[in-house]
Amino acid sequence: MAVVSFAAISVPSAVRLGFEVEESSSRKHWDNFYQRHQNKFFKDRHYLEKDWGQYFSHDNRKIILVVGCGAGNTIFPLAKKYPQHYIHACDFSHHAITHVKSHPNFLKDQINVFACNIAEENLCDHIMPASVDIVTLVFTLSAVSPEKMSTVIQNLQHVLKPDGYVLFRDYAIGDYAQVMLMNKNQVISENFYFRGDGTCSFYFSEDLLSELFERAGFVVVDVNTYNREIINRARDITMQRRWIRAVFRRP
Ligand SMILES: C[S@@+](CC[C@H](N)C(=O)[O-])C[C@H]1O[C@@H](n2cnc3c(N)ncnc32)[C@H](O)[C@@H]1O
Repeated sequence: MAVVSFAAISVPSAVRLGFEVEESSSRKHWDNFYQRHQNKFFKDRHYLEKDWGQYFSHDNRKIILVVGCGAGNTIFPLAKKYPQHYIHACDFSHHAITHVKSHPNFLKDQINVFACNIAEENLCDHIMPASVDIVTLVFTLSAVSPEKMSTVIQNLQHVLKPDGYVLFRDYAIGDYAQVMLMNKNQVISENFYFRGDGTCSFYFSEDLLSELFERAGFVVVDVNTYNREIINRARDITMQRRWIRAVFRRP
């Protein structure tokens, strides 16, 4: 398969266009996103059990933290499949938190959802240090600017128990959406783009992702990229989608 090189991007077009990439504006854009789309945009993540069942399926009660939970598309499939576990979940969009709390399957005894900017605030102000067995990062780190990613990962490390896991899924370099954003010149910095609605997205390589977690003291258990060709007959286009899946362990 042809590998597209994205290293050639030099002048950040976002800077030229005066685009702000501050965390406060990022929160505002995601809040607008959930106000506009309500809880209809993302589909429930039904692959969690298939991909990561071995991490979730134990009789003893586990503590899970869903980071960047959005409208709850990771929370509710997990809560249904593993009712014995307890789920903390956070997002910096207040509209997203409201959608989670008003979901028909929201149970106060099983789910604790709170507003938190994981790039700015200490997660230990919300949950006990070293108390979490599993963190899920599903399409969340890509929404954080690259210079804040290490802070986010360190933040996760503080709430994880030793031998706790981070289960990661996100956009991979060369994804169809990246090619579209690049063609529209919506580049902020290398592999980082802004969308039309002001939200941002980063596209990961396996090496960069592993390095980010290793630098924060994690062990790489598994990392792989997978592709799917998706045909949209209505729009008459074929999309090469690419995602990255990984598991990291706090030693
Ligand atoms: C692409 S959405 C994915 C939502 C959800 N994880 C899912 O899979 O449906 C990215 C989410 O990350 C949240 N987010 C982005 N940056 C964040 C930050 N610094 N702190 C907390 N949440 C953040 C956004 O509000 C948004 O809900």
